[in-house]
Amino acid sequence: MSAASLVELAAQASTCTACRLSETRTKVVFGTGTADSGLLVVGEGPGRDEDLSGEPFVGRSGQLLDKLIEEELGLTRASFYIANVVKCRPPGNRDPAPDEIAACSGYLDAQVAALDPRVVVTLGNVATRVLLGTDLGITSLRGRLHEWRGRVLIPTFHPAYALRGGGVVVAQMRADLVRAKLALATGR
Ligand code: URA
Ligand code: SF4
Repeated sequence: MSAASLVELAAQASTCTACRLSETRTKVVFGTGTADSGLLVVGEGPGRDEDLSGEPFVGRSGQLLDKLIEEELGLTRASFYIANVVKCRPPGNRDPAPDEIAACSGYLDAQVAALDPRVVVTLGNVATRVLLGTDLGITSLRGRLHEWRGRVLIPTFHPAYALRGGGVVVAQMRADLVRAKLALATGR
């Protein structure tokens, strides 16, 4: 799938009503960036700031994420792609439900096909479990590389958790981002 078809798909998603999250969302948050660096970052679902702006990770946790990615990988938003497992905000920031995740999965699949990232970083339990198809928790899944659809998947904590957890969690996120940098450099 080409980058042009990704633009078409974003237009299609902007009016999607395939699940109940369409009833309460303001804007669909499809995803932003490019795959110039080979990196795709996947979060859980839009929060309040993202629902209003239509862009992923623009609130406080996004600001922390941007800082860590810039410091550890030397990348800015223009050179990696960032999207969520569900494209519409779950009310009250609850976890997305399994049927909502299933209804939305075609968009993420199409994004992966169009972007063809070498390295995928998942943020937090929801994104990591959905992509790896496991019930295990982030604490046992992070800290190592996983093979995923012929790519390298690196799970890390959600930056919202790091905001609450402080320095120890941030240091672990930094270590995971260094793993991503090495994987991008070596292709594995
Ligand atoms: N949290 C997420 O998982 N995604 C966003 O886009 C914002 C906050
Ligand atoms: Fe469509 Fe996904 Fe939004 Fe549900 S969350 S309405 S499937 S774009």
